[in-house]
Amino acid sequence: HALVRYKFVVRESSHTRLCTNKTMLTVNGQFPGPPIYATRGELVIVDVYNHADHNITIHWHGVKMPRYPWSDGPEYVTQCPISPGTMFSQRVILSDEVGTLWWHAHSEWWRVSVYGAFIILPKKKNDYPFPTPHAQVPILLGEWWNANVEEVMEEFLANGGDPNISDAFLINGQPGDLYPCSRQGTFHLTVEFGKTYLIRMVNAVMNNIMFFRIANHNVTVVGSDGAYTKPLNSDYITISPGQTIDFLLEANQRPSHYYMASRVYASAGDYDNTTTTGIVQYIGNYTPPSSPLLPSFPNFNDTLASISFTKQLRSLVNKQYPIDVPLNITTKLFFTLSINLRPCAENRTCDGPFQERLLASVNNVSMVLPKIDILQAYYKSIGGVYQTDFPDNPPFTFNFTQNFVPRDLWRPENGTYVNILEYNETVELVFQGTNMVDGIDHPMHLHGYSFYVVGSGLGNFDKDKDPLNYNLVDPPLMETIAVPRNGWTTIRFKANNPGVWFLHCHFERHVSWGMGMVFIVKNGKGPHAKMLPPPPDMPKC
Ligand code: C2O
Ligand code: CU
Repeated sequence: HALVRYKFVVRESSHTRLCTNKTMLTVNGQFPGPPIYATRGELVIVDVYNHADHNITIHWHGVKMPRYPWSDGPEYVTQCPISPGTMFSQRVILSDEVGTLWWHAHSEWWRVSVYGAFIILPKKKNDYPFPTPHAQVPILLGEWWNANVEEVMEEFLANGGDPNISDAFLINGQPGDLYPCSRQGTFHLTVEFGKTYLIRMVNAVMNNIMFFRIANHNVTVVGSDGAYTKPLNSDYITISPGQTIDFLLEANQRPSHYYMASRVYASAGDYDNTTTTGIVQYIGNYTPPSSPLLPSFPNFNDTLASISFTKQLRSLVNKQYPIDVPLNITTKLFFTLSINLRPCAENRTCDGPFQERLLASVNNVSMVLPKIDILQAYYKSIGGVYQTDFPDNPPFTFNFTQNFVPRDLWRPENGTYVNILEYNETVELVFQGTNMVDGIDHPMHLHGYSFYVVGSGLGNFDKDKDPLNYNLVDPPLMETIAVPRNGWTTIRFKANNPGVWFLHCHFERHVSWGMGMVFIVKNGKGPHAKMLPPPPDMPKC
């Protein structure tokens, strides 16, 4: 292991967007936060200092952390938060990840301003499965609220309704030309005609899947979620919160200025229909247009456009990058993803539909975070923190995606349940979206693993027919996958990473409502199949 070391100071700093100045939580005063650069297989140590006045944790999104959940980051799942005035030295253990991942706060809604790119370069310089790019550029999609985001969070949790939507989307921290007071900061990508650029895109938005497109330019996708894909030529990209996409941009158009732009794909609910932009600016001797060409987009609710991009992703698969899809499945899981309602506390009404409270669940369980972390409770056998019988299947079945699911049909249960997997079990997990309250997409993210996405479709999963169409040859390897609205997605993985691993929807409002669960993967036999011990400086609750 070579070693890289970073220092992250989490603190308030002041930033202005949309003519509004506010102090917000950042790392090292930067927004977005500093990128981490590492090489495949390296050990990265990040010393995280909490100079804020509240708790925080940091998660290394997409890093599998072999046998070492201790630094993974989700608060009350694998650690107690880092309290004000203390620090935690996090060991970020890379293995086979290559390409783009990211890091973000994993505590309440702090990730809105506490995030950055995590770029993993090949071991040998420029050893890419595509022509060496002239330059590489991270592009992070983000969000800005004029309001204090913690207040936004507290308010919707108290009132039981949907959260307020943000005031702008951002490209590398900037709203772009179409928002007030924003022109000066607009992100410019300078390109030279004839050269190719590797764009490393992260969707760090809180609550929306995004479309992204560059006027006049097609792109070639070459990676996603820290793994290479077969080259995919496309004129737009769909990217879920949590997901990363690496693509090549060829500067092959008449030298000028062109807008890159991003806006929401939203199948339901309230959304912000504004467009964030950046500029692709060719080097050269020309008069730039006063308003560059804007790309056109699929409709906001164009589910098929959203899905068809994602469905075309394929693993690269060659000698150097082989694939290892589990073929003999030992464990079949079927998880329903639902938005639920619960009557408001007595004598009051809530802001959700029918004046009830919105919740979300997996197999009818709405997850409650415990007071001390599940990992510690598991490791030290502390009782009363979680229950072990998280259901493999929903408690009963119905027509999940019918037009109207009676709201009394299914009230969620609150609880902290884990599903226990034996070491090396081969898992097939079907996510089934339901039309309870609102059929909507769910970008599901699993910690500690990448998984193969072997199939997906609309409507109810058919256990006899749908598996016949699984792709077991070159399915994409991902760690976040959008389960389509009123549809299903099947993933496969081998439970070869012992530890405690969070599975949750990467829409922040949904995970706040309880759309998550935890896998405990037990130790196997032999020294390389056991969880490593905790570091001495684990934060205390
Ligand atoms: Cu990107 Cu559990 O998170
Ligand atoms: Cu969701």
